[in-house]
Amino acid sequence: MSTVICMASSKGGPGKSTLTVVLAGVYAASNYSVLIIDADAQQRLASEWYDPSRAPDTISVTTATHSTIAEKIARGREAYDVVIVDVEGSASLTLANGVYNSDCILIPANKSTMDLKDAMATAALVQQYNANSATQRAYGIVWNRVPPALKSREMDNTARTAIDAGIPIVFEVCERDAYRSIFSFSTTLNRLDKKEVPGIAKALEEGFRFAEAVAEIIVQTQQKEVA
Ligand SMILES: Nc1ncnc2c1ncn2[C@@H]1O[C@H](COP(=O)(O)OP(=O)(O)O)[C@@H](O)[C@H]1O
Ligand SMILES: [Mg+2]
Repeated sequence: MSTVICMASSKGGPGKSTLTVVLAGVYAASNYSVLIIDADAQQRLASEWYDPSRAPDTISVTTATHSTIAEKIARGREAYDVVIVDVEGSASLTLANGVYNSDCILIPANKSTMDLKDAMATAALVQQYNANSATQRAYGIVWNRVPPALKSREMDNTARTAIDAGIPIVFEVCERDAYRSIFSFSTTLNRLDKKEVPGIAKALEEGFRFAEAVAEIIVQTQQKEVA
């Protein structure tokens, strides 16, 4: 059975496309077949990032609009182990349809008041869909671009507000050059050149832990459904 993950936020820039490639790379390295559905009108993944000569063979990329996304996800479920949907950063039908048709919704957010406000709105959308269906979608915030060392007071406060609001926190991804480089070099983390990009090992290790955390919330949600 395949798993559909949607990177969802109604604002641009929190890291949807970056985290899509990070996860796709981890799954591909674990020999899963991966379909990335680029549902952003800018097509950053389909047109800019994807280069078949550089990306692993097990990753395919297709595009979708608000009217085709449900069908593309359904077809992706039949043919791939993992489908990752990257939507555009706006409160759109594409976002709503992507969320509706996915098993797991990851909400990337930087630890700022603005990003948190947006993340809470996206979480509320998932909660609303879950309240009206038998199958439950796993979901939660992925804090992104967290500085590896010192954290500001705003960051601490933002993190606390999310916890107080009861929104699940899936994982924290650090700010790293290696994550920027996957776009400059049109490839996945494990294929970056260690001589050209520093810190690949740490980013890779973080990517695998991120994928584990995602698997965990999916399993937890399924167990809750059964119970
Ligand atoms: N963890 C990270 N570390 C460093 N840079 C990052 C990280 N996540 C995202 N970025 C950078 O932030 C910018 C926005 O990220 P992107 O993935 O395009 O966001 P979105 O798809 O949500 O609009 C890009 O320039 C990307 O390289
Ligand atoms: Mg994007």
